[in-house]
Order: sequence, then C-alpha cells, then structure tokens
Amino acid sequence: MFMADADLMETLVSLCKRRGYIFQSSEIYGGTGSVWDYGPLGVELKRNLKDLWWSAMVHQRDDVEGLDAAILMHPRVWEASGHVEGFTDPLVECTRCHRRFRADLPEVEGGQCPTCGTKDAFTAPRMFNLMFRTFMGPVEDAAATVYLRPETAQGIFVNFLNVQGTARQKVPFGIAQIGKAFRNEITPGNFIFRTREFEQAEMQFFVKPGSDDEWFDSWMDTRMRFHRDLGIRESKLRFHEHGPDELAHYAKKAFDIEYEFPFGWKEFEGIHNRTDFDLSRHQEYSGKRLEYIDAPTNERFVPYVIETSMGVDRTILVLLADAYREEEVEGEVRVVLGLHPRVAPLKAAVFPLVKKDGLPELSLKLQADLRKAAIPAFYDAAGAIGRRYRRQDEAGTPWCITVDGETAEQGTVTIRERDSMEQVRVGLDQVVGWIRERLAG
Ligand code: GAP
Repeated sequence: MFMADADLMETLVSLCKRRGYIFQSSEIYGGTGSVWDYGPLGVELKRNLKDLWWSAMVHQRDDVEGLDAAILMHPRVWEASGHVEGFTDPLVECTRCHRRFRADLPEVEGGQCPTCGTKDAFTAPRMFNLMFRTFMGPVEDAAATVYLRPETAQGIFVNFLNVQGTARQKVPFGIAQIGKAFRNEITPGNFIFRTREFEQAEMQFFVKPGSDDEWFDSWMDTRMRFHRDLGIRESKLRFHEHGPDELAHYAKKAFDIEYEFPFGWKEFEGIHNRTDFDLSRHQEYSGKRLEYIDAPTNERFVPYVIETSMGVDRTILVLLADAYREEEVEGEVRVVLGLHPRVAPLKAAVFPLVKKDGLPELSLKLQADLRKAAIPAFYDAAGAIGRRYRRQDEAGTPWCITVDGETAEQGTVTIRERDSMEQVRVGLDQVVGWIRERLAG
C-alpha cells in the first residue's frame, strides 16, 4: 500500500532521519531549513545514483567524455551566460510579517501571505538575482566579486575545445559532469526538492546545427529510459514541454521529466536545446574562437547544444517517495523502502539466528566475504529475527541472510527477499554469485 500524499513527505523526512539517510544541516543550531546533510545510508544511495548515471552517460558510450570543473569561475562567465542579467525571480515581501516569497507562488498570486495569512499586503515585486556572491582574495570589492555556480553547465562550455582536442572527439559528442550548484532560492522547501545547495548531473551534447531536433528526441528517450531502469513507477513519470513563457533565456526548446511527488507533478530533470547561445556568447565575451572545424570539408561552425540536466537530490527524493510503502503483515504494519537493488545503500544484511554455536563467527566471515566482493553488507545480531528483518525492510536492504544450525552442518544459509519475503536456501559459497547475478539482472 502506498501512502496518502499528505502524510508521505512528513513520513519520509522522519524515516530519513531515523535510518541515517538525510539530516537537517546544522541541526544542533536549529537547522538551516534549506540545506541538508546525507548520512551513512543517504551518501551510499547518492553515490549509487551518481555511479549509475556516470556509467550510463560516460563509461558505456564512445561519444561522451567526463569533466570535473571548478565551482568558482571567472566572473565574466556569468555575464556571458546571461545569469548576471537574467537569473532572477520576482520577490515580494509581506508588509505585516516581513517574510519574503517568490511572487509566482500560487498562494502569493492569490494575494494571501502563506505565513501570516494577511490578504493583499505584499510589496510590489522586484527582481532578485539567485546567484550567491562572494569575494576572491582578501579585498572585498567589486573587482574581486565571484559567484558560486548556479549550474554546472558553464564549466563544460568553457572547456569545450580543451576536451574536444585532448579526447580527439568529433562532433557530435558530449561532455558530462556531476557537481554542486548553488541558488539563493527565495522560497526553498519540500525537503530536498528545492534547496540552496544541491548537486546536478549534467551533460552537454555538441551537434551540428540542423541535427539538433533529432538529437533532442534521442536524448529524451535515453534519459526517460534511465529513470525507468531505476525502477521508478511508469505511471508517476511524464514529460512536460515548456511553453514560450517557461523557456529559460538560453533555450529554444525544453522538456522536463516530471515525477508525481506528494505535492504534485514537478520537474526533476530538464532536457534543453540551448542552440549555439552559450558557445557564441563565450566567443563574444572572451574574444576566443569556440568553433569546430569539421573534417574533411573544413567547414567551421559553432555547435548547437542539447543539454540533459538531472538534479541529483531531486532524483533521490523521487527514489525515496517512489519506494516507500506500508503493508499489513500478520496484523502488523511493515514499512518497506522498495529501492531498486542497484541503488539500495546496503545490498545485504547477515544475521546469526542465535548468538552461540559459532553462528556469529560464521556470519561475520560471510559479511567480510561479501564486503571483499564489493557488496555492502550489514551484520545484525540484536533482537528477534522478525525485528531484524523489519529494520532492514525500512532501510531498503534487498536481501537478508540468516546463518543457522544448518549453515554449520551443511554449509547453507537462508536468503530472504525484501519485497516478496520469500526465502531460499543457498550454499555459503554461492551467496556472492547469487547476489551478483541479481544486481546485474
Ligand atoms: N543547466 C540547466 C539547468 O540548470 P534547471 O532546470 O534550472 O536547468 C536542472 O535545473 C535541474 O537541477 C532541475 O531539474 C532540478 O532537478 C535541479 N535543481 C534546480 N534548482 C534546484 C534547487 N534549488 N534545489 C534542488 N534541485 C534543483
């Protein structure tokens, strides 16, 4: 049974804290509300997601190269990209409670303050730039101003020719990177959905003008398939095409991949046709040519760019919201985080049935063998076996392995599958292979 939407967000926040997935940043100081820390299980989930993305986008392709560009860039980058001028949201302030909001929030558009409820007490909207500003070096003046990048994409654009030349790539080809981005959002919220510090997994695919529509369609398919392969329910995924009033300043065409979150259908990945906007602007502002010379015709052109931009944290929220369910089992509620085994932080948990007869030692040896085989495994000997299962169900661990009397005598263990709760008997020396087979399948 999947939970009623209204309660799901609260339940997820509480489960994430209880199980060590996600904590509020600086919690002992009262928290910040708009940034979050990933705990022991959360960081594994995030790494698994990023590794799968990297594998699909870079390792499994001949036509995409990786990059890890710096967060701080030359300030002219952000003038060229249009972010200094145009990366703004309309901001209003309630004159009663002095809280500030994005003017385009539905409640605010209706004239009512979401905090104190006062009607028609907002100031006129003013545009607010979302980039965080800081200073490079000891002098805090305008000449030393730098920005925390609001998207990772610009690091790719300015390195276009470095990567193309050193990797000897030919257009069409792409550059991918995963990294932090920062936006001074006026109204962050919904847990890790909208935060001020977040991670993006972005790829810019450089194509010959004229072939951009075809590549756009192909990347739409590829990216949607990636999310389906993570086990996200098909009925909760859809595309949304940007209307003219929604398009970013750089985009000719854009589709969002949306998920039906407990608070409605929202974007967690964007696919954009950025044309030659960024490379042309960087040519103009840097004075350096960013053209590609097509062999064998020697035709010169500034490539068009198809961008795929996945929010890592938002995708984590998709995975958690999609996986959470409660079931009734023998009159008790069983909480299950049905994460796809490939993203699940722990792949297995090993339990000695009793804490005697050499079973703990056998269990610890199995745990060590699993770990050596790069299968993260947890050891738990505390409490009744049923309770140990429940703890792992809630943590999202796909397989629980029980070491019992037969293990010592016949060299077999019981593997219990999280979703079906079915149990099979497997030889001790087969366990690593059994799990590997399922992770690969
Ligand atoms: N380079 C293009 C770009 O940045 P975007 O649609 O503004 O496009 C891409 O952002 C993705 O980054 C979004 O789909 C979302 O998943 C994520 N994202 C954007 N702002 C965010 C925020 N404040 N908190 C968390 N994720 C965010």
